[in-house]
Amino acid sequence: MSQQGCPVTERHRRKTHRPEDRPEPALEVVDGIWQVRDLAVARQVLRNREALQGGFNAEQLAMNGMRPPILYADGTTHRKQRAAIARYFAPRTVDTNYHELMDRYATQLVDDFRREGRTDLAQLSLLYSVMVAAQVVGLTDSPTDQMSRRLERFFQIPALKETAEAGERRSLVEEAKLRALTLRGQLPLLSFHLRDVRPAIKARKAKRQDDVISHLLDEGYSQLEILIECVTYAAAGMVTTREYIGMAVWHLLEDDELRERYLSADKPGRYEVLHEILRLEPIVGHLLRRTTTPIEVEFDGQTRTIPSGALVDIHIRSVNAQRAVVGESPLDLCPGRELPPKVGDEVMSFGDGPHKCPGNSLAIQEADVLLQKLLALPVRLASRPRIGWDEMIKGYEVRSIELELADTR
Ligand code: HEM
Repeated sequence: MSQQGCPVTERHRRKTHRPEDRPEPALEVVDGIWQVRDLAVARQVLRNREALQGGFNAEQLAMNGMRPPILYADGTTHRKQRAAIARYFAPRTVDTNYHELMDRYATQLVDDFRREGRTDLAQLSLLYSVMVAAQVVGLTDSPTDQMSRRLERFFQIPALKETAEAGERRSLVEEAKLRALTLRGQLPLLSFHLRDVRPAIKARKAKRQDDVISHLLDEGYSQLEILIECVTYAAAGMVTTREYIGMAVWHLLEDDELRERYLSADKPGRYEVLHEILRLEPIVGHLLRRTTTPIEVEFDGQTRTIPSGALVDIHIRSVNAQRAVVGESPLDLCPGRELPPKVGDEVMSFGDGPHKCPGNSLAIQEADVLLQKLLALPVRLASRPRIGWDEMIKGYEVRSIELELADTR
């Protein structure tokens, strides 16, 4: 890989900033929580099979006898789930089963934009990522535009924002239950269940298909368990990809050289650019684990033991910018950085170990298909994008990102 064209400077091109973003120390304990900013330590913790999910407010989760959704499952249950869904996400499956579909959806959305001359990218990218993930999950028996509006209402209802602002911590599942108790929350969740999830279940009971819902039915999941799994996929797959697309377009529109490089490159070259944007701007900013055995970690020639029962907070934003791993100007955008062996171009943005994102190939390919079409038009930003923060995934949201077609007459 080359760093050709990268202006190795101290110009910081990361658009998102958090008070806790610091390169050091690699490992420290603050208020009883182990803070990790080092790739080697992060990997040792995330790859430890005994460590439990500690993020997404998992520790406030009470499943009351129901099976936890994949993101919250651990041990053998989790391993089995992952093995069963792996084939829906394998790069080859993504290529053969979903590429044409992505192409069709992207063409449709970009044609609409071309006709209108203006679009709200946050809406367009949500619709697109819902369309694509819905295929893999099996939510295909209702109109996607309506489902995407229902999901957006569900994820954005004021109860969520008020809760986050009040600093309360709830898991996705607790949040879903809480909302089910309030009228404002009940309606979007209920209507997602009745209009999207239930028809999908009914269709798959009549005729099994090759998707996640069919697999859950094979395993005897109840309607409520399937609903909760679908909400998890919506948050893990649809919402993350939406934010990623918004951020990637923002970077590419503000930098003519980078955009040229992306548009004229072959697939590996384009992926280099996309992965570097994801490294610099990870959507999920922190991953947390609860250890159940001591973990001896090695870094910088030192050895330390994280005790059993510790909560470990992995600072993905800092790990991805670790100078010893990614080289000079870690906060600059330099596609094709020379990275150590076995470190992916996006570094930790898809996580690591047993919970590592299964949707990684899907997300990059889907972003690439849309971006190629969108950025081939004379498009420009028509608003100043705003960054918000979602406490649930400890990640950013890009809003107020309007696009318009430049007048080329
Ligand atoms: C740019 C887009 C995406 C990013 C940045 C992202 C990031 C992540 C990360 C960091 C995790 C690990 C969580 C942990 O270790 O606790 C994860 C898990 C997961 N992601 Fe993604 N993801 C993206 C797209 C997708 C897509 C498109 C799908 C599926 C349609 C998906 C489905 C999942 C699922 C089901 C999990 C849970 C896996 C498990 O716990 O075993 N993600 N994602």
